[in-house]
Amino acid sequence: MTLPFILAIDTSCDETSVAITQGNTIYANVVASQVQLHKQYGGVFPTVAKQAHLEQLEPTVKAALRQAQLTPSQLGLLAVTLGPGLAPALEVGIRYAEHLSQEWQLPLIPINHIEGHVVSVLAQPLPRQGSTPRHDQPPHYPVLSVIISGKHCDYIAVTGPGQYQRLGWTVDDAAGEVLDKVGRMIDLGYPAGPILEEWARRGDPKRFPFPLPMTTSGDFNLSFSGMKTAARNFLEQQQALTTFSQQDIYNFCASFQFAVFKAIGYKLNKILQTNSQWSEVWLGGGVAANRALRDQLRAVIKPYGLQLKVPYNKRLCGDNAAMIGVAAQFHLDRLPLDSPLDRRPQWKVDEHIQS
Ligand code: KG4
Ligand code: ZN
Repeated sequence: MTLPFILAIDTSCDETSVAITQGNTIYANVVASQVQLHKQYGGVFPTVAKQAHLEQLEPTVKAALRQAQLTPSQLGLLAVTLGPGLAPALEVGIRYAEHLSQEWQLPLIPINHIEGHVVSVLAQPLPRQGSTPRHDQPPHYPVLSVIISGKHCDYIAVTGPGQYQRLGWTVDDAAGEVLDKVGRMIDLGYPAGPILEEWARRGDPKRFPFPLPMTTSGDFNLSFSGMKTAARNFLEQQQALTTFSQQDIYNFCASFQFAVFKAIGYKLNKILQTNSQWSEVWLGGGVAANRALRDQLRAVIKPYGLQLKVPYNKRLCGDNAAMIGVAAQFHLDRLPLDSPLDRRPQWKVDEHIQS
């Protein structure tokens, strides 16, 4: 059976992304980033994001079709992110997807953005011309997925294709958010996460210890707001002493990043200790691009004989529509759905679409 070509749209936050996928294979994954627009605000400004999505969607759809060398008549399905995300940003993508669905007479599947991050590890590049076509091996379930992004930190049990159960989450800030906020305290710009990673490489992660949060909570949840306050207090103290060198700043970046990732690894270890059923551990979300995070989590899961599966390129870690297209293949059963679709800014990955 030939799988349909899916055109997928994600406008959940500050990237306008359109992709074309077939099964797990990516034919196009175009991301029109708004980072430059939001830099001046030090974070995502919703009305600016909405306007940029409105302007960018049509050219991004055209660019994806061009890249995939396909025409709309060759597509079989459309998919769009329904949530979670910024309500005005989601709205633009949903309405545009509905418009395309009418114009091209194609069914439209609503997808959860976090599910996209979970299955981003399954995405595969288009095989080179002349090479043998790939046969994707289905994953061995259950899989434990760890999603670390700018808005979410989740431990998710993937019990089958398209089936999820959240085991733990952050009760306040997400790890990416806290890296961005602390990076801003030392003027690293926006988003600070990737620059903080670079600076951390030049520093000593053991130089300044930060307390590990939530060790006695008895659950698999995370909390980063206390670490953010500890970082602010620490920096204020250093400024008062005025002896803080550039090397100290590198050491601070390395130590803070190490502490954040240690907290994530600590709860991951708790889950593995409690339940040894997992056959794979997956990592996704914007912060999954960070090499130190990958290394720290690999060290945690190694004693259990597990390997860490990560997306095949960094573009698939951050927000992108290819992951939405890959997820859509698991939800053909969602058709037909009521139209117009309602955005779901708070949609949890394990909440049923109709609930
Ligand atoms: O998944 P994503 O693109 O958007 C959300 O759904 O939130 O994640 C964005 C987050 C930002 O906080 C950004 O600073 C962080 O991912 N990030 C990184 C790195 N690359 C992106 N954090 C640490 N190291 C990186 N290399
Ligand atoms: Zn995301």
